[in-house]
Amino acid sequence: MEKLRREVFEKFERYHQEQVFRFWDELGEEERLNLCRQAERIDLIRLSEMIDALIEKGKGHFVRADSPLMPANYIGLPYDETSRYRWEDAYNLGEQVLGDGRVAVLTAAGGQGTRLGFEGPKGTFAVTPVKGKSLFQVFAEKIRFAEKRYGHPIHWFIMTSDRNHNETIEFFGKNDSFGLTNVHFMRQGQLAAVDMKGRIMLEDRGRIAMHPDGHGGAFRAFVASGAGAMLDGQGVDVISYFHVDNPLVCAIDPYFIGFHEKNNAQMSSRMVLKQYPEEKMGVFCSLYGRTAVVEYTDFPMERAIERDRSGTLRFKAGNIGVHIFNSNFFRLLGTEMSGRQLPLHAAKKRIPTVDTDGKIVDPAAPNGIKFEAFIFDALQFAERSIVVEGNRREIFSPIKNSVGLDSPETCRQDQVRLFSKWLVEAGSDIPIDATGRPPFNIEVSPLFADNGRDFLMKWNFLESRPAIASGSYIG
Ligand code: UTP
Repeated sequence: MEKLRREVFEKFERYHQEQVFRFWDELGEEERLNLCRQAERIDLIRLSEMIDALIEKGKGHFVRADSPLMPANYIGLPYDETSRYRWEDAYNLGEQVLGDGRVAVLTAAGGQGTRLGFEGPKGTFAVTPVKGKSLFQVFAEKIRFAEKRYGHPIHWFIMTSDRNHNETIEFFGKNDSFGLTNVHFMRQGQLAAVDMKGRIMLEDRGRIAMHPDGHGGAFRAFVASGAGAMLDGQGVDVISYFHVDNPLVCAIDPYFIGFHEKNNAQMSSRMVLKQYPEEKMGVFCSLYGRTAVVEYTDFPMERAIERDRSGTLRFKAGNIGVHIFNSNFFRLLGTEMSGRQLPLHAAKKRIPTVDTDGKIVDPAAPNGIKFEAFIFDALQFAERSIVVEGNRREIFSPIKNSVGLDSPETCRQDQVRLFSKWLVEAGSDIPIDATGRPPFNIEVSPLFADNGRDFLMKWNFLESRPAIASGSYIG
């Protein structure tokens, strides 16, 4: 213990971070040991580089208004015979890849879900309009549907963080993994939070304030957890990645997989049209010849409001956190020595901490900075990448906030709207208003169908079709 203490004390003094030990004399033996162990794991070199760049020199990932930003190219939704043919072609290719058992799924579920304010992992949040299924159950059913259809078990990797790892595993245990046999949990890394002067913060007298290292931590977690190595020799080379907060996501999408395969891409991204300049959405751009996502916080408003002659936003390809990766590329980015380290982004946040007397305080305003890696920054390392458009109403309705925009309520409405659309397209006379919603809740299980195409087929083959009324569940 004394050797460890000396080492970490010296290291932290060298980087002017000795305040971390300011309550040392008041700590018990076990608390001291835990603090030293926590301190030992912090990468002070990387952290001080970040502090130096972002705080002292004021540099960041900000894009200046005069940066040579161009809208990114993307494969648009089908609009004529030729493009419809192209999409159909992609679909068939995607089905082939799936039939060959080459696809695994990865869900980033390590976030803290602060805005939603829900106690517990966000994936356990009840989201569907009639049955109140959790987000995890919805994804599990999408995967089960695909397993049955393509005749292969599908690996599902779930990224958790220190704060929700055990609870997530317990939840799957309690629910028998929703009938799946290949669910794997991988815990992401952590980073230390710093105050506005760049000094590492404490969350308690003997504990450093740590937070998950961002969804970009998925690469390292994949390698460090052994997930990457586990796939060796199994012929799985396509990773379908999405965020835990969007129940509409096409978790396993033959169209998207087909386009990825056809273009031999290392990374493919799904986009939806951004609706208005201030919308809080990253945008796919082309910067110095490479595709990149510029976060809304970094996007100069002068550029965000630019419109073309038809009045459409120029920078309109909104990022929804849905990607497909080639598995070797994914592993490369997760390998520390590969020289491909994702940049860290800094965000000012409210961070519970201790005052000078060691009392815990929960600040009302941002008092510190968290650093995070973002999954989309992998684009800068991809020599071949594509962006594919999706229809927002069909694939994107995230739960971010407790009320208002992107809340459980808007998400329920969007689910009901989508299920109603499928029914209408299948010839049902379900009453809908101008926004496409019936005056009641209905639900379609992903085990029945997960998209309009499959719904139509299944519905048409039903021997007796149920009457649709309030609370109808098509399972
Ligand atoms: P968000 O950026 O919406 O963050 O994450 P969040 O933590 O869920 O919510 P807030 O900002 O605290 O309210 C987008 C996706 O990335 C995952 C989240 O679980 C979500 O699926 N994520 C985010 C991680 O897996 N790890 C992280 O460190 C951060």
